[in-house]
Amino acid sequence: MKKPVIAGFSAAALALAGLTATFPAAADEGVRSLRGADTAAEDQAPEQKVQLGKKPGLQKTVTRSFKQQPPLIPHATDNFDEITLEENQCLSCHDEANYKKKKSPLIGKSHMQLKDGKPTKTVDKTRHFCIQCHVPQFDAAPLVENTFQPVSAKGR
Ligand code: HEC
Ligand code: HEC
Repeated sequence: MKKPVIAGFSAAALALAGLTATFPAAADEGVRSLRGADTAAEDQAPEQKVQLGKKPGLQKTVTRSFKQQPPLIPHATDNFDEITLEENQCLSCHDEANYKKKKSPLIGKSHMQLKDGKPTKTVDKTRHFCIQCHVPQFDAAPLVENTFQPVSAKGR
């Protein structure tokens, strides 16, 4: 019973020795991923883009591409990163209590309703994480080509 185990082990050891012997040669040829990244190099973080929008109150709203689109955020959001369980900085300008004195657009009506249409006193929890749907603006080219056109551009 013992013999085959030892034989197996020595075969594996041999294979391992073979591998270590050929490894430096492979490294010299440069191991690359399918997308051409050098596998030995550390991953690089993508270039950080600057937001196009400035302080709220300085820009026009962005035209929507279709009726139900969550409107794009025209202003910078760099300083409003505190959307936590207890806090939501976006609401300090956009909720019913603040929007008038902050001269900001009021949140959508749908944000103060339950799924069955019943009104809620505060923003419904399904709308608490604003930037899940609303995105700020960057000067970034599309990652892949696409042929999307707004409905109005099709003359409907
Ligand atoms: C200091 C007040 C203030 C804060 C804080 C603020 N906004 Fe705004 N927001 C505005 C104003 C004012 C506008 C009108 C356009 C402009 O002036 O930039 C606006 C416009 C928008 C619009 C466009 C609405 C439309 O009809 O097109 C969206 C969406 C929006 N904000 C989302 C957000 C989100 C999400 C946050 C939090 C990350 C946030 N805002 C934080 C004041 C604010
Ligand atoms: C689940 C997606 C979703 C989330 C989360 C969400 N919104 Fe919206 N929002 C929308 C859609 C869709 C619209 C356009 C239709 C509507 O008014 O409901 C909209 C509309 C708006 C508008 C424009 C209202 C108008 O009448 O022109 C503002 C301002 C806004 N949202 C702010 C916010 C803020 C602030 C938060 C976070 C507290 C938030 N939204 C969370 C999807 C979302």
